[in-house]
Amino acid sequence: MKRIVSGIKPSGTLTLGNYIGAIKRFVELQRSMPDDEFYLFVADLHAITVPQEASLLRQRTKEVAAMYLAAGLDPLRTILFIQSEVKEHAELGYLLQCSTYIGELERMTQFKDKSKKQEAGLSTALFTYPVLMAADIILYDADYVPVGDDQKQHLELTRDIATRFNNRYGDFFVVPEPLIPETGARIMDLQDPEKKMSKSDESDKGYISLFDPLDVIRKKIKSAVTDSIGIVQYDPSSQSGVANLMNIYSVLTDLSFAQIEEKYKGLGYAMFKSDLAELVASEIGALQNRYQHIIQSGELDQILDSGRDIASRVAYKKLEKCKQKIGLGRKRK
Ligand code: AMP
Ligand code: TRP
Repeated sequence: MKRIVSGIKPSGTLTLGNYIGAIKRFVELQRSMPDDEFYLFVADLHAITVPQEASLLRQRTKEVAAMYLAAGLDPLRTILFIQSEVKEHAELGYLLQCSTYIGELERMTQFKDKSKKQEAGLSTALFTYPVLMAADIILYDADYVPVGDDQKQHLELTRDIATRFNNRYGDFFVVPEPLIPETGARIMDLQDPEKKMSKSDESDKGYISLFDPLDVIRKKIKSAVTDSIGIVQYDPSSQSGVANLMNIYSVLTDLSFAQIEEKYKGLGYAMFKSDLAELVASEIGALQNRYQHIIQSGELDQILDSGRDIASRVAYKKLEKCKQKIGLGRKRK
């Protein structure tokens, strides 16, 4: 039996990029791996590495959990919980900081990008963020971690930290493998297809929020930047905008790029975009309906309570053993 662990930050609104790169994928894995164990948490401790308004953070934390359920996550198969409610994450994060070098964290491209954007008031936690992420993963002995492409480097660091600990104290942590999808791992900005679609974007035309009204979604797809070549074909180097839209199309229909090219041969972009607009609106529309139902029912709190209890038991045991290995506290009889 394998264990699959992943998390998502409740900062900003959830985007189509999060849905395709992470949420949808997690739900599919859960279906295709019926004998394996799934842990999924809302990474609220990660969200506060940049300033958050308390009531909004609390609201978004629940939104993320409800959105996973709306996307088809089965709470009987997946242990769903809120990161800060299992205190072992932060504690193991500290222990692992003692086995992580400053130079390793300085090489993290996400930190470099974020610190370039925000010069003053950078928190220490933004710098140590990847160590907490490593703790989130190895605390549960995860075998696989499904994430989008932007998390690849953090996963490599996680593997290094786990391996270093094992070399020093004897085999203890499972060294996890990332699971990065071939299609959809990186959905790009609709207005600037050279950069990742992100909720922290300045222009809201570049990303699709899972909470956008459906007519806004259609409009955003139809006004996505393309090129003057006018042929629906997969060529990311010279047609990055169209390639991005084809990626989305492919994930939502399961059609290959060749099949999409064939379907729109001689038809131009307008028809392609209009079909894609309908596809995305219908997928997100269904998601929004289920989301409303879940958020209004009381079941979400029950699911999160039970997830917290199960995750806490597993995490407590692993952390206690870890402290013993390091030599912290008194020896257990
Ligand atoms: P975050 O919102 O940064 O917590 O990301 C949550 C998950 O969504 C991670 O697995 C990311 O890799 C994934 N993700 C975020 N943005 C995108 C994107 N534009 N395309 C694909 N996956 C994404
Ligand atoms: N850092 C991830 C992101 O920004 C979220 C995350 C936190 C995560 N802890 C994790 C993802 C553990 C996978 C496993 O997307």
